Amino acid sequence: MVVAITETGLPLFVLGREADPRSEPGVSCPGVLPPASDPALVERARAAKERLGERLFILGHHYQRDEVIQFADVTGDSFKLAREAAARPEAEYIVFCGVHFMAESADILTSDFQKVVLPDLNAGCSMADMATFTQVEECWDLLEDIGIADHVVPITYMNSSADIKAFVGRHGGAVCTSSNAKRALEWAFQQGEQVLFLPDQHLGRNTAVLQLGLSLDDCVVYDPRRPDGGVTPERLRKAKMILWKGHCSVHGRFTAECVDDVRRRVPDVNVLVHPECRHEVVTKADYVGSTEYIIKTVQEAPPGSAWAIGTELNLVNRLAQTNPDKRVMFLDRTVCYCSTMNRIDMPHLVWALESLVEGKVVNQITVDPETTHWAKVALDRMLALP
Ligand code: 13P
Ligand code: SF4
Repeated sequence: MVVAITETGLPLFVLGREADPRSEPGVSCPGVLPPASDPALVERARAAKERLGERLFILGHHYQRDEVIQFADVTGDSFKLAREAAARPEAEYIVFCGVHFMAESADILTSDFQKVVLPDLNAGCSMADMATFTQVEECWDLLEDIGIADHVVPITYMNSSADIKAFVGRHGGAVCTSSNAKRALEWAFQQGEQVLFLPDQHLGRNTAVLQLGLSLDDCVVYDPRRPDGGVTPERLRKAKMILWKGHCSVHGRFTAECVDDVRRRVPDVNVLVHPECRHEVVTKADYVGSTEYIIKTVQEAPPGSAWAIGTELNLVNRLAQTNPDKRVMFLDRTVCYCSTMNRIDMPHLVWALESLVEGKVVNQITVDPETTHWAKVALDRMLALP
């Protein structure tokens, strides 16, 4: 197994064959992929899609590459895609152009006869990997030991493994996405006195402080890599929000300086960011919201307006192309794609679709029945939020 050691001493598993089998995305991508240089890839994908007809439904997250997104029957943020997957009981094959946790959620929300396919099993999510089941159990044990677990409600961001969603379902909590985090937290505070928010500390903090009016002092960060989370029992007892120390490696790159810099360079620029960005970035921005919100805001903006956008680059580039009457730019000066979202490319898509045409279901994502049951409890609580 190929392992590099990072500055922090944590092992960094190289993606691809022989990657860490315990990590959220899985192990390898079996089969022989068509070469990326094949000029017939688009034609092949089109032909396979046509052959599969109504039996196939392709979902595409907004961060997918252009060449892939053109084949999606529906595009959306994680919330919309979860709803769309649940609303297609007739499709035998759901090909998920997104990342592993999204495909897992689709499998949980669809019936047994439906098969969910992730074209590249290495399309995981570094944020989801930041909360493992064992770590979350250890955290909960600590909350029990210090006598607060009974009134803590766990909320997990959609960007987490099915195991974590099931844990949350079993302990009276719910899933949330960036488009309904406020409603999920309001619901949670009706059920209990404190919230354990997994795994994105930024979404948790931004929602609690900017949308629910809590203070930064009401939030404490639990670090699963430190003994007892690196926080005292007193602090845990006092906090309204216990934030898991996880983050998105794409959105976490935007800094307050990026905002200052673009405001200096572009007069009257509107800064629009995703709530996975750090708190100091979000507080300096003009608008904050999920990918669906970002798209709608730019589409509805007046011609001639300027927009600096803090989210994944495939989406920002697409917004620039589809809104030529506005100035749409990336918030950072350096490029930043989500490397795992980008793993779904034409060779993988064509391979997955052609395999289905031959009757072979490749890269099927299946969640075991027990996990499915409890994760569905947590997902259904989210889908039922007012
Ligand atoms: P949304 O799709 O909920 O906006 O989340 C963004 C993201 O990072 C997905 O991985
Ligand atoms: Fe995960 Fe961030 Fe990529 Fe979304 S953008 S899949 S949260 S690493």
